[in-house]
Amino acid sequence: MFPDLLRDDVFRLETARLWLRWPRMADASALLRHAGDPAVAQMTASIPHPYTEPDAARWIFSSRAGNAHGSSLVLVMARREKPTEAIGSVGLHQTRPGVALLGYWLGAAFQGKGLATEAVSAIIDLAFRVGDVREIHAQAFADNAQSRRVLAKCGFRNEGRGQIDLPARGGVFTCERFRLEREQSKLPAFEPVTAGDAVARPALC
Ligand SMILES: CC(C)(COP(=O)(O)OP(=O)(O)OC[C@H]1O[C@@H](n2cnc3c(N)ncnc32)[C@H](O)[C@@H]1OP(=O)(O)O)[C@@H](O)C(=O)NCCC(=O)NCCS
Repeated sequence: MFPDLLRDDVFRLETARLWLRWPRMADASALLRHAGDPAVAQMTASIPHPYTEPDAARWIFSSRAGNAHGSSLVLVMARREKPTEAIGSVGLHQTRPGVALLGYWLGAAFQGKGLATEAVSAIIDLAFRVGDVREIHAQAFADNAQSRRVLAKCGFRNEGRGQIDLPARGGVFTCERFRLEREQSKLPAFEPVTAGDAVARPALC
């Protein structure tokens, strides 16, 4: 689903305020701190709670394996001024040919500044430009107004509610489903990134 260019951990995606880069073992303690927050975990489909060191290690290894295989692109968010400190994650996972499922979360201290929208719009832009991605799906709990707003700002269409099995949350839950098709995404005309350019669009390193 994703080309060779993204399948190596030297790859990173830069936005105005963030580095989106491959997770590494050194991120484990930051992940434990931020994803271990119940207010974050309980709004996601897959972060277990309590969140333990082996959970973080498993997530890092499986994300790296999926990225290397090209079947997913799972990146940690880090601030440009502190690129070694993971503050959240954004990822796309292939569910069938041409279709990816989006997931994301951000540490509580960093929420409310538009960072998730910045990260999500960058990864979907990249996926539609260089990935073999026709459509992106997402799901959010009906009471997750922040997440629904992020998806709306990124152009996703609300497709109504459905029952989704979420083992990490311990059962089947009613969620809202969202979809964005390549043709409907508001991709700006492509301009290559040059040295010294502002980095509001993807930069491949
Ligand atoms: C969802 C999440 C990633 C959003 O991160 P964020 O960086 O705060 O998001 P942004 O700042 O880019 O956008 C949030 C939007 O929600 C709006 N918002 C915040 N609280 C809201 C509320 N209670 N009701 C409605 N809108 C709300 C904000 O005003 C903002 O919209 P705006 O830019 O139009 O003002 C973050 O809250 C999070 O990690 N939550 C826990 C995990 C999670 O829910 N993951 C997604 C699973 S589907």
